Amino acid sequence: MSLSLQIDRESRCPIYQQIVNQIKRQISIGDLPAGTRLPAVRHLASMLGVTRLTVHNAYAELQADGWVEATVGRGTFVKAGLEVEALLAQHLEHHRHRLHYCSDMHRLLNTGTLLALAYAVPDISLVPSTQILEAFNQIKSDAAALLHYGGQDGDHELRIELTEHLKERGINTLPDNILITSGATQGLALITQTLAQRGDKVLVEVPTYLGQMKVFNVMGVEPVGVPMDEEGVIIEKLIDAIEKHKPKFISLIPNYHNPTGVLMSEERRLAVLDIANHYRIPIVEDDVYGLLTYEEKAPLALKALDKTDNVIYISSVSKTVAPGLRIGYITANAQLLDKFTQLRWATELGGTPLMHRALAIFFREGHFKHHMKRILPIYKERRDAMLSALRRYMPTHSTWTSPRGGLCIWVKLPPKGQYNDLYPAALMRGIVYTPNEAFFTEYSDEYYMRLCFGSQDPSTLETAIHVLAELIYERIELYQPTRITV
Ligand SMILES: Cc1ncc(COP(=O)(O)O)c(C=O)c1O
Repeated sequence: MSLSLQIDRESRCPIYQQIVNQIKRQISIGDLPAGTRLPAVRHLASMLGVTRLTVHNAYAELQADGWVEATVGRGTFVKAGLEVEALLAQHLEHHRHRLHYCSDMHRLLNTGTLLALAYAVPDISLVPSTQILEAFNQIKSDAAALLHYGGQDGDHELRIELTEHLKERGINTLPDNILITSGATQGLALITQTLAQRGDKVLVEVPTYLGQMKVFNVMGVEPVGVPMDEEGVIIEKLIDAIEKHKPKFISLIPNYHNPTGVLMSEERRLAVLDIANHYRIPIVEDDVYGLLTYEEKAPLALKALDKTDNVIYISSVSKTVAPGLRIGYITANAQLLDKFTQLRWATELGGTPLMHRALAIFFREGHFKHHMKRILPIYKERRDAMLSALRRYMPTHSTWTSPRGGLCIWVKLPPKGQYNDLYPAALMRGIVYTPNEAFFTEYSDEYYMRLCFGSQDPSTLETAIHVLAELIYERIELYQPTRITV
């Protein structure tokens, strides 16, 4: 990558400052990686048509600010670690606006310098890339056709495979009753756009995951939180919220909920279905974690109990196979599914048939089942390692969930602690988790962390929890209750 500078001679910003600002920006976004040699002063001055003193002053400022280092006789070089520092600063700024939270987090994690406990994603080293590439190899004769626009519901062969797959989730449906989407996220977006309008309300479990709230936010739909306990959403609160807010739908994650990992009890499932039927409000079930199960046979979908076809089911292969495939699916009553399909066709045409077919082959050849057998014991071991580190290191009065599946643990910190700077302090120690504010529909004065165990090995998880616990202890010591004198 090379330096590219533009000087604006009309600008009120001095030329040397323009050079400084542009070089800093290019370092921050990774265009000038660590170790890049900047052009010699004389050379850059003549290229830009400015005096050597101007360039010299710019380099001196960059050096004084710690962005570059000069070695006599060798030149001026971009210092290491700056991209990460700049991204950290940007992330901390964004972190104040929780809906921006994920966008720069992704870039930050890609620097590979942080221990990521923040993302509920599969471990990249466990993604079955070889089998997926082999599946592409088998496509050869159909490749040209699959590179054309696809049908409006997605690849037929994938829908056949998904029909079998859904049978194992307790859902009996037909290929024609499945719409393939670009991840579960697009599924939720299609449903929201179809069922709700700007200003409408929908019910969500609280806490719930940020991606869902982002969908509602961009569509101007207001999520109203319904509290949950260790069995799932609390029925009395659900009824109150329905009566008060007249929601357009109820969005639930019954299997290994994000962020708590809670598996909704059978009793709650039946009650939720009853209530939704009674008030004639559709339920949207998000089942992306249902197969990531460590203690029991995978729990069936809520939709498996749905006798009135009131549950709109969405899921994807993002948490099991690979999020980058961007393949999800919806099944729902035919009338609604048709509306989702029309909306999807109008806004995105038919998805990516080549990808769909590769996944169909992945299922058909038995790779999916084999892959699940391989990864489940690994994630189970990681979950156990995180739970045991939490028991060993966390201060008393902290509590956490012990999920039987999924990818995250929900930790509540002792009430007497000053945690405002815990998140940046953890980042500075190289650990990133997801803090409270990402998960609540309203302000909460309790402090929670979502810790994801999927992408780190057991000993790294132990180290990370140890460090986090130290930081938490420090903040408990700092705690000073507010005194009010009357
Ligand atoms: C509950 C839940 N649903 C959906 C998603 C996103 O799924 P997809 O990648 O299929 O869009 C996530 C990702 O974290 C999630 O936790």
